[in-house]
Amino acid sequence: MARKIVITSGKGGVGKTTVAVCLAAQLAKKGQRVVVCDADFGLNSVDFTAGVEELSSYDVIDVIEGRCRAKQALIRHPKCPNLYILTSRHAAPERYVSPQSVKLVLDGLAPQFDFIFIDSPAGIDDGFHRAVATADEAIIVTTPHLPAVRDADRVVTMLKSYRLEKLQLVVNMVRGDLLVLGECLSPSDISELLRIPLLGVLPEEYNLSCDVFNTHKSFKLIANRLLTEKGKIFDPSRKYSGLFGGVRRALKKRL
Ligand SMILES: Nc1ncnc2c1ncn2[C@@H]1O[C@H](COP(=O)(O)OP(=O)(O)O)[C@@H](O)[C@H]1O
Ligand SMILES: [Mg+2]
Repeated sequence: MARKIVITSGKGGVGKTTVAVCLAAQLAKKGQRVVVCDADFGLNSVDFTAGVEELSSYDVIDVIEGRCRAKQALIRHPKCPNLYILTSRHAAPERYVSPQSVKLVLDGLAPQFDFIFIDSPAGIDDGFHRAVATADEAIIVTTPHLPAVRDADRVVTMLKSYRLEKLQLVVNMVRGDLLVLGECLSPSDISELLRIPLLGVLPEEYNLSCDVFNTHKSFKLIANRLLTEKGKIFDPSRKYSGLFGGVRRALKKRL
């Protein structure tokens, strides 16, 4: 039976969709059967991020409105047979989609999969509640920037009322050079501030997710921790410590 995990955040643009797709791809590479459901009905970027935008014919709304069965709407990723995408192409803001209807679709798929990631819209509006109502667990994504952390705090407060089995934190776009200099909040500080355990850390990298199957090693560590509940957390500051690290810091400053 699939673990249904909503990927959520307070602020937009912090990397929810990237985390949902790249983490799903890592787990699929390890042999897990994974679905990523696009529940961000406003932006619908899962298909693009996964590189399957040209393959979609039916989407989750088609399933809810009875035009096809859930299995027909799943896009099997051409590069990874264990990874399936359930898109939401039909962004129609005026159309009401109830949380129960999305939950029914995902509950129907759950027995045949190991993980279902639900990519949520940012913020705490209807779309957030709809996405969270389908899940058993949540991953909150934030960057180390104060506005993102403050908004994440509001989301964590809302999430606590859902009594999910697990809330875990991913801190994305962490700059190792700033961490070494103490110029940004550290992932462990953020975890303490938000009072939720740290699942993983991702560095700010220009081409972090160019190819979802050759992602940065930090995604592999997160996938491991999700499966085993233990294992290393990526340390973006390592590259910037010591003599060579100092040179790298100096070069980064010049960019
Ligand atoms: N760690 C990172 N380093 C650099 N760019 C990133 C990183 N994570 C995400 N991005 C980029 O940031 C943008 C927003 O990411 P996205 O996953 O769409 O955010 P969200 O779903 O939260 O709105 C995308 O262009 C994505 O490629
Ligand atoms: Mg997104």
